Amino acid sequence: MKTYIPVLIAALALTMSFSTLSVAADTGADLFKAKCAMCHGPDGKGDTAMGKNLKVHDLGSADVQKQTDAELNGIITMAKARCRSTTAS
Ligand code: HEC
Repeated sequence: MKTYIPVLIAALALTMSFSTLSVAADTGADLFKAKCAMCHGPDGKGDTAMGKNLKVHDLGSADVQKQTDAELNGIITMAKARCRSTTAS
């Protein structure tokens, strides 16, 4: 995870600035577009300039999908502040 630290700092700074945006998000899809798509892409594939920089996984990939709802929930809860904690292994 060491190589992720610089990008995680960038992600942290960016995510914190997003959290101050007031966005009318009525549905999960709106919320995803408003808060997540700039990194993870509109379809979750991470096929964005930011996503490639941060090396986000395709959220539809087997690696991500094999995680339990509880695990993903934890990651997404952290996503509110910084998407993935630098201390998570
Ligand atoms: C600033 C860019 C950024 C934003 C905004 C962002 N993420 Fe992420 N996300 C990341 C990075 C970087 C990772 C870690 C990728 C890794 O560890 O391979 C990640 C990981 C994840 C993962 C775990 C996938 C995996 O690789 O195991 C999920 C699920 C996720 N994000 C959901 C979300 C959701 C939902 C939102 C919106 C609330 C969001 N993310 C917003 C950058 C972002």
